[in-house]
Amino acid sequence: MRKARKAGTTNSMTRATDHHPVRLRRSVLCVPADNARALAKIKDLAADAVIFDLEDAVAPERKTEARDDLVRHLSANRTDGEAIIRINVAESGFSDADLVAAVAVRADAILLPKVESPADIQGALDWLSENDAPETMRLWAMIETPRGVINAPAIAELGRTFGGRLDCFIVGLNDLGKETGVPALPGRTYLVPWLMQVLLAARGSGLDVIDAVYNDFRDPQGFAAECRQGRDMGYDGKMLIHPAQIDEANRRFGVDQAALDEARAIIAAFARPEHAEKGVINLDGRMVERLHLGQAQKLAAKAQIIEQRRAKP
Ligand code: COA
Ligand code: MG
Repeated sequence: MRKARKAGTTNSMTRATDHHPVRLRRSVLCVPADNARALAKIKDLAADAVIFDLEDAVAPERKTEARDDLVRHLSANRTDGEAIIRINVAESGFSDADLVAAVAVRADAILLPKVESPADIQGALDWLSENDAPETMRLWAMIETPRGVINAPAIAELGRTFGGRLDCFIVGLNDLGKETGVPALPGRTYLVPWLMQVLLAARGSGLDVIDAVYNDFRDPQGFAAECRQGRDMGYDGKMLIHPAQIDEANRRFGVDQAALDEARAIIAAFARPEHAEKGVINLDGRMVERLHLGQAQKLAAKAQIIEQRRAKP
């Protein structure tokens, strides 16, 4: 995969937020592609999405073997949730073979690590179109370096062009901590500004955005606190490293009943004939604007997906 020279332009007529169907991404579990025991477990886990990692979790001397294992695994085993493959950086020399594998197994998305500029996205978009990747194949980007955070708005903006392949950011605090010297202490005081900066960039272009991993998988209290914080910051879900983290993430990033009742009331109110052409209405003594309708519909759609999952045998 080569680096692209020039980023595309944005279609200002396009509303970013209208681009992507609603997807449930409360729990995004990462699994090293060369860990056969972990791969075998996935079918029994309730993660919304799984990232099959060919990058940081796989040692350089195991890259080829891990890729082969993964192709074999995904050719024979697919679950309902999104299957995402995290490939290696372009400079590693592994990324082209990783991309070929991802297309061969028809992954739902490719996760690009250490994205630092729109050119990184453009390079992957070019490769995918030149190699006849399915149009439905999406791109996710790890924002995990200082330049990635600084350039997050321009990177997100590119996602609005080119058929909207780019649809999700993940913040990577392990790499960011290493490069900046800012550790992820409880509360993440000094990291919150960057987390919010990335969130704003993602939302500005209608992208989903996933909070960073919590390394201490034997600390459920600390994990729950961080999930709460991620949810309050507006994140869609959390990247996970261990099955023990799935239920809590699903709960914390799920739809709570009060919010769902409210959303349904807003949808019903705007559906009434007398409100058909109104931008703002009175709902039980509170002002509700039409802009709340989109939010309410998104929430109700998520609740419906959760309900359908529950109903499955
Ligand atoms: N996905 C699926 N299953 C997993 C898993 C994962 N991410 N992590 C652990 N498991 C499985 C283990 O295989 C084990 O099952 P087994 O007894 O049948 O082998 C079970 O869950 C319990 O695991 P445990 O013994 O508590 O942990 P471990 O020592 O096997 O693994 C890690 C700990 C951290 C090495 C492992 O969780 C891991 O590799 N996580 C992902 C790391 C990663 O992807 N990093 C890159 C992104 S930050
Ligand atoms: Mg990383």
